[in-house]
Amino acid sequence: MSATFLKSIPFNRTHVSGNELGYLTEAVRQGFTCGDGPFTRRATGLLKETTGAKEALLTSSCTHALEMSALLLGLQPGDEVIMPSFTFVSTANAYALRGAVPVFADCRPDTLNVDERLLEAAVTDRTRAVVVVHYAGVACEMEAIGELCERRGLTLIEDNAHGLGGSYRGRPLGSFGRMAAQSFHATKNVQCGEGGALLLNDAALIGRAEIIREKGTDRSRFYRGQVDKYRWVDIGSSYLLSDVLAAQLTAQLESFGTIQSRRHAVWHRYHEELGDWAAENGISQPVLPEGCDHPAHLYHLLFPDPENRQAFIGHLADRGVQAVFHYQPLHAAPAGLRYGRAAPGGCPVTERAADRLVRLPLFPDMDDADTARVIDATRTYGVR
Ligand SMILES: Cc1ncc(COP(=O)(O)O)c(C=O)c1O
Repeated sequence: MSATFLKSIPFNRTHVSGNELGYLTEAVRQGFTCGDGPFTRRATGLLKETTGAKEALLTSSCTHALEMSALLLGLQPGDEVIMPSFTFVSTANAYALRGAVPVFADCRPDTLNVDERLLEAAVTDRTRAVVVVHYAGVACEMEAIGELCERRGLTLIEDNAHGLGGSYRGRPLGSFGRMAAQSFHATKNVQCGEGGALLLNDAALIGRAEIIREKGTDRSRFYRGQVDKYRWVDIGSSYLLSDVLAAQLTAQLESFGTIQSRRHAVWHRYHEELGDWAAENGISQPVLPEGCDHPAHLYHLLFPDPENRQAFIGHLADRGVQAVFHYQPLHAAPAGLRYGRAAPGGCPVTERAADRLVRLPLFPDMDDADTARVIDATRTYGVR
């Protein structure tokens, strides 16, 4: 097939649900363009409904929400935080910035989530927290991980960048950790370009979290009329999301149901129509354990070896389809070696998976013809 006259299918295209421009105009016209304005209140309400969080604070990114969680933990240099090696750099950076040591645990070969059976061996007397990442929005084994954290007195944090709308045994992702971080980056199911949120499931954290997000001041209390002036009361930074971006986010959250049903339609077609091809070629499709409802955040395939993964990406590119790899193991990255260390046993599963994984295009505006083109292009590849 020649791609010459066909439009390329990108890995991701941001979706416009309809009300974005109207809300953006309203935000600009009403003049409340800094943080914590009317659209922030609307988006926060919708986010709390979806996740069941006690409080949600919109932030300028998931990276910043994670940094806030590190400040809220009151980490001291040398404290340790256990997390997967198979994750985005921000998961580790947030804690390394406070002088803590990221301890990287290996992932499960099926879901690519942190392997809950390896966590106990990673705990030392300096361990303060466990950060989980629900890869592709498929839940980690939260029962076992929650039990470990409880028994060893560790704070559980969810990096829920992928997981909005996902659940584990009927309970929303983002509601398991004492804190959870969301991303509204352009690549996420619900997006405002750059944005995020810190979900707080422990009411005791709310007051200090508001202060940290407002440059270390009690300005939030001042706005509510609870103090007559605001002052510098703690360390903090500027982590608020502009209300202009919160306007875009509000429109997206209001359309969450539509966005999700379109993403699920593409995900399910991939899963069904690539099943026999994957089996014949020794390629693994995503695995969904019992009790995990996922939000169709991404569709990934695991090839038998890195050479076939690279050749497949080139095969799709020749047919006008953009497929991409994903995380590079943090335990072996230059900064991972400098600031962190691997948990006992290392991360061999992560190393093997990272080299063999590819993600197919998945966005709400893929129509049936686009989806069929990706499937056809994929099925014409044969593992060598
Ligand atoms: C697991 C994970 N955590 C954190 C982030 C950072 O998100 P943001 O770009 O909103 O800071 C990402 C980004 O993709 C991610 O995949």
